[in-house]
Amino acid sequence: MNIVVTGGAGFIGSNFVYYLLKHRPADRVICYDALTYAGNLHTLEAARKNENFTFVRGDIADREAVASLFRQEKPEVVVNFAAESHVDRSIETPDIFLKTNVLGTQVLMDACRQFGIRRYHQVSTDEVYGDLPLDRPDLFFTETTNLHTSSPYSASKAGADLLTLAYHRTYGLPVTVSRCSNNYGPYHFPEKLIPLMIINALQDKKLPVYGAGENVRDWLYVEDHCAAIDLILQKGKVGEIYNIGGHNERRNIDVVKIILKELGKPESLIEHVTDRKGHDRRYAIDPTKIHRELGWLPQTKFDVGIKATIEWYLTHRQWWETIISGEYRNYYARMYDER
Ligand code: NAD
Ligand code: DAU
Repeated sequence: MNIVVTGGAGFIGSNFVYYLLKHRPADRVICYDALTYAGNLHTLEAARKNENFTFVRGDIADREAVASLFRQEKPEVVVNFAAESHVDRSIETPDIFLKTNVLGTQVLMDACRQFGIRRYHQVSTDEVYGDLPLDRPDLFFTETTNLHTSSPYSASKAGADLLTLAYHRTYGLPVTVSRCSNNYGPYHFPEKLIPLMIINALQDKKLPVYGAGENVRDWLYVEDHCAAIDLILQKGKVGEIYNIGGHNERRNIDVVKIILKELGKPESLIEHVTDRKGHDRRYAIDPTKIHRELGWLPQTKFDVGIKATIEWYLTHRQWWETIISGEYRNYYARMYDER
């Protein structure tokens, strides 16, 4: 089978590429990625040595390039990870989020219709449900929770989800959608909470916690997310949405303190900074459907996954040092210097 993985040079997409090469050795994996600031060919160095792997550089919103990808590679399955993914950047510059996340999804699905496909899978997020109050631990997001977005990022992801489901109902496109909670693990770009805190702590730099740090995220090890998507491709029902999450809710401040403790660094490195605009309070996924219908359960407990992740950043210094010595410096200054 030929599987196109868009956004496969980013965090979760690259982990999914490696997951497929390991667990589906009979399949051909084609990574289609524009290599934006978040895409990184170094991440795919090992994959590029595998004869079942092909890398094609291109933008999902570029109709001509996408058509030529389909003509050349004849995909039977497309898994769309390609997106602008960082909430803080969406607050600065929403336009590119709409272009890539909404129009890019449309262009990909138009190509799927034109050339024919066995499955189009849209990788979405729990952020489409908005947030939950901190004092209602009994509430969770299910697949039928109303969409109620807070940021330009989450609004663009919700738009893409609706379009995906509309292409199924209107044109009969065989789609599935998954909505996952916060991932962590190897190859996570250092603008996001966990890698940013690990890398700053390793450099004895301040750890910028937004507000009081009481916001709650539901953390899932990236490999568990990859396994869930693979399962949806194998056994998921067309036209369905599947929530993915491991019931692992943590306050940001507690995650940061765990990282400091693991690295033997002092809590005095923590600096409370101005909060994110429209900051979602709590995300919490109810994963009952994917467990009951497909038999998925997460395999990696947080205390094991976070140690493995920290170890990965310790042993892959060159990977992140290259990133933080480039354009990232301007981003960091813009985002944090006057905060
Ligand atoms: P990422 O920012 O690390 O990677 C995104 C990748 O997409 C990069 O390789 C980038 O080059 C590529 N890309 C961006 N615009 C493109 C375009 N126009 N055409 C082709 N490629 C393009 O993102 P991530 O954290 O790996 O997230 C991947 C997907 O998973 C996204 O759709 C995101 O919404 C979703 N998601 C992420 C999380 C999370 O915790 N990170 C959780 C749930 C869902
Ligand atoms: O829930 C899934 C989503 O998780 C994905 O759809 C997004 O693509 C992904 O980026 C992530 O969104 P978050 O906004 O939850 O992740 P982020 O790592 O940016 O922030 C996690 C929490 O940490 C959030 O409450 C904001 C806070 N934070 C973040 C940064 C970067 C800080 O306190 N300080 C920081 O410097």
